[in-house]
Amino acid sequence: MDHPELFAERASSFGANAAVYAEHRPDYPLAAIEWVLGGRKSVLDLAAGTGLLSDGLVRLGCSVTAVEPDPAMRAELARRQPAVTALDGTAESIAAEDGSFDAVVAGQAFHWFNTPEALTEITRVLRPGGVLGLFWNRDDVTVPWMADLAEATTTSIGPALVVNWMLPEHERLAPAEHTFVPHGQARTIESFIATIGTHSQVALAPPAERAALLDDVRAYLRSRPETASGDFIRPLSTVAVRAVRL
Ligand SMILES: C[S@@+](CC[C@H](N)C(=O)[O-])C[C@H]1O[C@@H](n2cnc3c(N)ncnc32)[C@H](O)[C@@H]1O
Repeated sequence: MDHPELFAERASSFGANAAVYAEHRPDYPLAAIEWVLGGRKSVLDLAAGTGLLSDGLVRLGCSVTAVEPDPAMRAELARRQPAVTALDGTAESIAAEDGSFDAVVAGQAFHWFNTPEALTEITRVLRPGGVLGLFWNRDDVTVPWMADLAEATTTSIGPALVVNWMLPEHERLAPAEHTFVPHGQARTIESFIATIGTHSQVALAPPAERAALLDDVRAYLRSRPETASGDFIRPLSTVAVRAVRL
């Protein structure tokens, strides 16, 4: 992104609506988490937000430490997931000893990090043989009604972020691998509107623009046979990336 201040504002936009975020953002498929972890159990969830990825890790029997800089997101995580140790910190500054974890994971977050600084910290706190895992839930735009919607959610702040999930080469990481796992989120028109309202370019748009955009999306969803009747599945494709610490 061209404007570092706007980038920082978008990266820290989520805490203002932490409870809405927790309720309306999608979880992660357990199959994708298992593919990344390969049985590893001691996990750091970086940029954990309200704990949507931590929740899947706990369900798989992992011991989870979370790092999250936003106090409102961290408070929501602590309320929803008391089994997780939630720490203040950033991807670029993690309060943990060298080699503390079998796995470091980040859901919907790696694109907000300063990549070189974050990879230095991540590979420091990972033990050799541990794994870095990245996840993004992406709208499945091979589905026509989703493809048309993607364009409708650009605001004066910018488009929805197009995530580059290709991990750069790093001297302490084996070459990265990736997989795509089909996923879905049960939605109604109004709950999907709430989800879209948590996306940073919509959350930060001026109120009148935001309201007009959400009205347009509501009208669109009412007009489509796939969504008009009320309950539907938002089609997602989860991309998971893994790279083993050398
Ligand atoms: C889109 S949310 C994802 C939250 C959670 N991982 C999930 O899957 O729902 C992005 C999160 O990254 C956090 N964040 C932004 N910049 C960060 C950084 N440099 N280091 C760590 N966390 C960061 C934000 O506070 C926010 O909670």
